[in-house]
Amino acid sequence: MSAPQDMIDEAMAVQSHAHAPYSGFHVGACLRTESGALYAGCNVENAAYPQGQCAEASAIGVMVAAGERRIVEVVVLGEGEALCTPCGGCRQKLSEFAAADTPVHVCGPEGVRASFSLGELLPHGFGPGNLTSDER
Ligand code: THU
Repeated sequence: MSAPQDMIDEAMAVQSHAHAPYSGFHVGACLRTESGALYAGCNVENAAYPQGQCAEASAIGVMVAAGERRIVEVVVLGEGEALCTPCGGCRQKLSEFAAADTPVHVCGPEGVRASFSLGELLPHGFGPGNLTSDER
């Protein structure tokens, strides 16, 4: 599956702003929401390493700050040869706002390298539905 070029362009533009002095690995992410708007974010590392934030999380923050909640397509763009698939934590964060069939395009500078559904990346995930029970 191909990703819209405007999403790749946004991810590439924001990737250049990544704060990644420790890993040297610059990532850009772009989310398309049900309104059609695009929200982009980059990874933001920290000298206290665990406090760093992934690009996907940054993009989600921008989206929520804009008042949006439903992600319909995701682009993650990294560098190097390997696939820059979202980390486990980001799969969970995306699942809060996206459906199992939401496409996640894993990209490099040359374009899309692989596309997955979020459900393929996070099977049997824990979501809002797991919190609702007749017993509560
Ligand atoms: N990173 C992301 O921003 N998104 C991903 O999908 C994978 C990894 C970041 C976290 C860290 O700043 C750097 O890449 C190396 O792990």
